[in-house]
Amino acid sequence: MNVRTVPTTPIEGQRPGTSGLRKKTAVFMEPGYLENFVQSVFDAVGGLDGKSLTVGGDGRYFNKRAIQTILAMAAANGAARVLVGRDGLLSTPAASAVIRARRTEGGLILSASHNPAGKTGDFGIKYNIPAGGPAPESVTEAIYRRSMEIDEYRILDCEDVDLSTVATLRMGGMAVEILDPVAIHAGLMRTLFDFDAIRALFASGFSMRFDAMHAVTGPYARAILEDELGASPGTVVNGEPLPDFGGGHPDPNPVHARGLVDLMMSPEAPDFAAASDGDGDRNMILGRGTYVAPSDSLAVLAANAVLAPGYAGGLAGIARSMPTSRAADRVARKLGIDAFETPTGWKFFGTLLDAGLATLCGEESAGTGSNHVREKDGLWAVLFWLNILARRRDGVKEILAAHWAEYGRDYYTRHDYESVDKDAAEALMADLRRRIPELPGRPAGALTIAAADDFSYRDPVDGSTADAQGVRMVFEENARAVFRLSGTGTDGATLRVYLERYEEGSGELALDPQEVLAGVAAAATEIAGIHARLGRDRPDVRT
Ligand code: G1P
Ligand code: ZN
Repeated sequence: MNVRTVPTTPIEGQRPGTSGLRKKTAVFMEPGYLENFVQSVFDAVGGLDGKSLTVGGDGRYFNKRAIQTILAMAAANGAARVLVGRDGLLSTPAASAVIRARRTEGGLILSASHNPAGKTGDFGIKYNIPAGGPAPESVTEAIYRRSMEIDEYRILDCEDVDLSTVATLRMGGMAVEILDPVAIHAGLMRTLFDFDAIRALFASGFSMRFDAMHAVTGPYARAILEDELGASPGTVVNGEPLPDFGGGHPDPNPVHARGLVDLMMSPEAPDFAAASDGDGDRNMILGRGTYVAPSDSLAVLAANAVLAPGYAGGLAGIARSMPTSRAADRVARKLGIDAFETPTGWKFFGTLLDAGLATLCGEESAGTGSNHVREKDGLWAVLFWLNILARRRDGVKEILAAHWAEYGRDYYTRHDYESVDKDAAEALMADLRRRIPELPGRPAGALTIAAADDFSYRDPVDGSTADAQGVRMVFEENARAVFRLSGTGTDGATLRVYLERYEEGSGELALDPQEVLAGVAAAATEIAGIHARLGRDRPDVRT
């Protein structure tokens, strides 16, 4: 087999965003596009000679083809071994678990998360470091710099490898080890949660629905929930991963998982429901008649963590992204542990987890996880909830109500303005930033701005800094609004407006968040001039 060195030229725009490089699938399929980026990763990490790598993806269109290209390039770059999930599948948390358990020199994860897939959809690729987490900015910047100077890539001329069965095959001098995509991750879950208690819960007639949204978590959920824990067959719906996710938008939120939410609000609702996203790192949690906001989910998991064997010794600290509500901070305060506030994106949690400063992490965007891997983990969150429900023998609604009564409730919503004009969105943010000094004391709608800043972060472990991470406004009325632009979209820009208002435990705790937050939304919309600047009179998505 022949190693081919292919001359190439830099391609603009290969700078990874919030979570790796994401582009339209058609862009990734252009000749040399994937190859340039992959070679840039290999070069930026000091070459692959004699190293091992983990590779897998969420099964979306182009996943299998891209994996064959990556394998041939890894072989040509001298890799000793690549671990790859059967059929090219590995959920993002499972890939992180494999990197850590098998100590590979990091991994490549092929996914655009919850973004729609298919020829006209999105594709993505992300490099994770040997600790198992997304590459920090120092590494993604090195990859980007390399992509701007690259002049050749190496690839082996060879046949495709058959990835359909668990086996170890060879590609040139490299071993290709095809893994059961579920086994390592499931093994880890067994060490963290009380599987006996969850089995007893299901045996007592507890009913559940898990919507895998035709994305990667179907095989994981079936193996763990139905086969191992005894949930009745049919608990997992939309469990076959499909290259186009069945034409859906696998983002587990009340908009894109509408059917599941409707079921849970109906008389036919099972006791518990959950969904995960394209690559299995996000989660949505529902009880009968109840939607659990992700920020609340993090707080409830933290407050009940000792019920799970893996966390019985207590938590070191809790980290949340800045736009996530402060509900988890209240739990941290009560537990007497540290609360960390990081920029948006899982990559900022890595140093805190590695240093043992934080045990649980979460984001308002349906991401929750812990130090068991270095990614957020959808099924982990579902199992954590099941563990708590099994031990408390109480419903989701009751657990949430008791939590709010104890800590108060951070009413929360996020309003997204999607695919808006990029220049207009950037001008809106620039203008907000420029006006920050004059905002405190100013009225906004019916509220008054108490403080405003542009969030900047200094990592307490490695001292690295990240500026301009979102404009925060705190109002005198116990409320907050945060504005930032998405770093994961591929179409124009998306403005995210995060809104919250705190209500004491003795106050009204069961109201509709959209109603409670209408005044904060109006204040935020007015102060940023959203309607005029973006030409939109309402958000596309309210989570
Ligand atoms: C979004 C979420 C963020 C999450 C990321 C990857 O990023 O807001 O919390 O970490 O997806 O799943 P954004 O598009 O806002 O940059
Ligand atoms: Zn995801």
